[in-house]
Amino acid sequence: MSLSVVILAAGQGTRMKSSKPKVLHEVSGKPMLFHAIDAAQTLSDDITVVLYHQAERIEKEITDHYTDIHFHLQDAIEFPGTGGAMKGIVFEHERILILNGDMPLITTQSLQALVSGDADINMSVIEMENSSGYGRVIIDESNVKEIVEEKDCAPEQKMVKTVNAGIYAVKKELLDRYIPALSNANAQSEYYLTDIVKMAVDEGRIVHPVYVKEEEFKGVNSKLDLAEAEVIMQQRIKEKLMMAGVIMRLPETIYIDSRAIFEGECILENGVSIQGVSRIINSHIKTHSIVEDSILENSDIGPMARIRPESKIIDTHIGNFVEVKKSILTGVKAGHLSYIGDATIDEGSNIGAGVITCNYDGKAKYQTVIGKNVFVGSDTQLVAPVIIEDEVIIAAGSTINKNIARGELAISRAPLKRVAGFFDKFFGK
Ligand code: UD1
Ligand code: MG
Repeated sequence: MSLSVVILAAGQGTRMKSSKPKVLHEVSGKPMLFHAIDAAQTLSDDITVVLYHQAERIEKEITDHYTDIHFHLQDAIEFPGTGGAMKGIVFEHERILILNGDMPLITTQSLQALVSGDADINMSVIEMENSSGYGRVIIDESNVKEIVEEKDCAPEQKMVKTVNAGIYAVKKELLDRYIPALSNANAQSEYYLTDIVKMAVDEGRIVHPVYVKEEEFKGVNSKLDLAEAEVIMQQRIKEKLMMAGVIMRLPETIYIDSRAIFEGECILENGVSIQGVSRIINSHIKTHSIVEDSILENSDIGPMARIRPESKIIDTHIGNFVEVKKSILTGVKAGHLSYIGDATIDEGSNIGAGVITCNYDGKAKYQTVIGKNVFVGSDTQLVAPVIIEDEVIIAAGSTINKNIARGELAISRAPLKRVAGFFDKFFGK
């Protein structure tokens, strides 16, 4: 690959009104910056992320998930601004693609258009009815002449509706010369990356505008922008999945994490939420169920079931109001109102209504192991740690706090007392 990528992510993100760095805010389960890195990785093996505000926190988040990303710490005190951010970066390749960390909606296809052709600079531009806040792009005979920042605009320049979307592909040879030569003689006393355009034009170089969709190149600056980006991203994720064969009832009510994987034939009913890194294979998820960081295979769950992280549910039926956490269920039926946590349950076992694994004693969590073909009667409490071997029957209403051996009946019940005539006596009939 002959392309290096820089992702600018050193800005403070004040308008986000958050202690969390702007670029770590998530869109469809993934930090905005990761969406940019993922797009960059399809194009380049030399990716540099520029950091300053909360640099350590962002760098850690990146290195926890990616290898081979380079970091560049901006000297934002001496050299503030997007041009300052580029100072001192060493690139491996001849062409540099410059991205922003707060643009989660960019696609590889659009970036491809920016890095193709052989103009000295390709820059992304958008035609916008309301161009306020953006740098205005002065175009003459289909070549860019200059970018003027809003704060530096003359009144007639403010009327220009062609704006700089903030993404550029530039020849390394130009950057190597222009970045050290940038000045901060402007309204914000910042080093503007955008000034490289005029420098190139003055040298007779070609700066080519690449018209892009606002929907993809929208920067996220506030939580309102974040919510709007989420809507667009969700629509994309779901359209792709439906085209790949997933059935969705009322798709606009469904949420799916960008990292979820679907295989085979799956059905999602309205209100379903698939969170984290989940894998759903040939399964039916009914109305208002939630799946978090779990695997579901040949199973049906819900309505209103909650599958919490690290669960593996295979060949299993899970009904309404059942919560499963960190459990492996294979060939199980759990039809109604249960809590199954830190458990392993094997083939042919039936979990009655209201069964609870008591997995926590206030200090630590304990395991419940249930073998094959076990019948657990309704309203049973399984006090973990506990092992129920194969082919056991547990009578309804039992509290099981000892291991039960293969083939046994387990019953724990207070004896039933019957008092004749009590009703009439009590109500004085
Ligand atoms: C920039 C462009 C403007 C364009 C707009 C598009 C400049 C001078 N102006 O303006 O023409 O219309 O983007 O969204 O480039 N950053 C750093 N270090 C800094 C400052 C910013 O890394 O010192 C990063 C930010 O984290 C962000 C990106 O650069 O990812 C853009 O910065 P931002 O402050 O949003 O630039 P704008 O003023 O909006
Ligand atoms: Mg901006």
